[in-house]
Amino acid sequence: MATNAAYDAIADWYEEELLAGLKSGTPDGDPLDLRGLLRTMLGEGSGVCLEVGCGTGFHAAQVRTQGWYPLGVELSGEMLRHARGRLTAAQADAVRLPIRTGSVPAVLAMMVHTDMPDYPAVVAEAARVLRPGGVLVHIGVHPCFCGGFADRSDREAVVIRPGYLDGHWTKSSWTDKGVRAKIGSTHRPLPELLNAFTAAGLALERFGEGDSPTPAVLAVRARKPG
Ligand SMILES: C[S@@+](CC[C@H](N)C(=O)[O-])C[C@H]1O[C@@H](n2cnc3c(N)ncnc32)[C@H](O)[C@@H]1O
Repeated sequence: MATNAAYDAIADWYEEELLAGLKSGTPDGDPLDLRGLLRTMLGEGSGVCLEVGCGTGFHAAQVRTQGWYPLGVELSGEMLRHARGRLTAAQADAVRLPIRTGSVPAVLAMMVHTDMPDYPAVVAEAARVLRPGGVLVHIGVHPCFCGGFADRSDREAVVIRPGYLDGHWTKSSWTDKGVRAKIGSTHRPLPELLNAFTAAGLALERFGEGDSPTPAVLAVRARKPG
């Protein structure tokens, strides 16, 4: 599991450049439809929604408008510096959450699994802290159409090269403008990703995709049996 906070080095870039489109609030600024996926996958609710790897806390405002109380856990102190004022957050590792077992109604993992080499351990830890009937919402890089093996330089003709099957960490990317080229990302094929939820005892409930014509994001809602 990551113990170093790689995002410390890119926190200002993440907040000021990578999130610029989303901050604009326009549909063009959200080509992955992260807002729409968060709305439909998390839905409206009440009580704590714990975001693991909350980064700069950008999504907390939307979580709040959907009725939830956003809390965050984040490894990088520099990302947390930007999160101040957006949500209450603790500097902690998502594999060892400082949260009581069976206590929270919702956990959100937003664009984090490619930054967490032992994502199955993160999912298991999320399942631990969820109360019975609680939901884990995962919204992340699409394992089939996005990764070091995928050339997305022509959005209309995405090219999938060998590399999908052998999960690995890489800095290879079709663009130098993303996270992968700057600090690297982990890849996990689709069955491995979905098996992480079922292995943690969660029931798969709903799926979604974002970006067109070839999705770049996969969303999963999984529920802890009540
Ligand atoms: C791509 S950012 C996503 C941030 C935020 N969820 C968002 O959507 O804007 C991934 C975040 O996960 C954090 N992270 C990576 N591994 C972590 C871990 N083991 N525990 C907590 N946070 C972690 C990184 O520091 C980084 O801020």
